[in-house]
Amino acid sequence: YGYEMCLSEKFWCPEFSLEAVIALQSHFEAHDTDIFVINMPKTGTTWFKSLLYTLLNRCDNHHLSNTPLQTYSPHELISSLEIMIYTKDKTPDLTKIPPPRLFSTHLPYASLPESVKNSKCKIIYVTRNPFDTFVSSWLYYSKLEKLDIHTSRDDYFDKFCQGRSLYGPFFDHVVGYWKESLERPQKVLFLKYEDLKEDGALQLKRVGEFVEHPFSKQEEEQGVVQGIINLCSIGSLKEMEVNKKGKCDPDFDNKSFFRKGVVGDWVNYLTPPMVERLTKIMDENFNGSGLSF
Ligand code: A3P
Repeated sequence: YGYEMCLSEKFWCPEFSLEAVIALQSHFEAHDTDIFVINMPKTGTTWFKSLLYTLLNRCDNHHLSNTPLQTYSPHELISSLEIMIYTKDKTPDLTKIPPPRLFSTHLPYASLPESVKNSKCKIIYVTRNPFDTFVSSWLYYSKLEKLDIHTSRDDYFDKFCQGRSLYGPFFDHVVGYWKESLERPQKVLFLKYEDLKEDGALQLKRVGEFVEHPFSKQEEEQGVVQGIINLCSIGSLKEMEVNKKGKCDPDFDNKSFFRKGVVGDWVNYLTPPMVERLTKIMDENFNGSGLSF
C-alpha cells in the first residue's frame, strides 16, 4: 500500500497505530459507565459520533440548535482511543473524563482490552454494506497523503476481498460484533448505516434505550428525535466551520470525512465481476449467521 500493516492477532493493524493498540490492550481500564462506538473505517463513524453525543447531551429545555455540536467536530465529541494515544499523549489521563466516557475504536472484538469485554460498559457497533464501505475507503485512502496509497481501484479491491484492509478482514470484524450482539444484547448494540439512513428515528430511539437515556413521550412529540437527526445530517455537519477548516489530527482534515453520505453509490464504481466476487464472499461469511445487507 505504501504504508505498512501488521497482521496482529488476525487483523490488519496500521503500523502507525500498532504501539497505541498494544498500549491500549495493556493499560486501558474500562469503567462500567463507558460507552464505545466501534466500527470499521468508512462505515459512518463520524456521523454516529455526532448522533450519540447529541442524544446524550440533549437538554429538554434547550432548543437543539444550542447544542455544542454546532461548535465541535464529531471527532472531538468522542475521542478515538488509538488516535489519542498515538498522537497526543502516550499515556493520557483518561480518569479525569466525567462519566459517561465516550470512546471510539476500530479494534475487532477479539482484540479489545479485556476490561472492555468483561466490564459492564456498552458497545455500539455500526457497520455498512461492504460495497459502499469499499468505495468510500478507496476514495478516502487514495487521497490521504499520510497513508500514501497509490494503488488502483482493482488492486485495492483485491486486497479488500482478501481481508487486507485497515482493521480487516471486514467480514470477520462485522461477524465478531454481530455474534456478540446476539449473545449479549445488553452489552453490544449492532446498527447498520443503511438502517440509520432509512429510519433514523427508530434507530435513534433504540440507541436511547440502549444507553439508558430513552426519549420521553414529550420529547418525541416535541420533535426532539427528528431535531437530532437533522442537526447531524451530512448537509448540516458539512456546513459547520470546524468541519470545513478543522483538522482532527495533523494529517486528517475534518472535511475529508464528509463525502456523499448515501446508500448505493457503489453502482458508480464496481464492475459486475467485482459485485459477483464480493457477493460470493458475503454469502460465505454471513451464511447461517442471520446477517445480511
Ligand atoms: P461516503 O464516502 O460513502 O460518502 P467514517 O466516518 O467512518 O470515516 O465514514 C465516512 C462515510 O460516512 C462517508 O461515506 C461520509 O460521507 C459518510 N457520512 C459522514 N457524515 C454523514 C452523515 N451525517 N450522514 C450520512 N453519511 C455520512
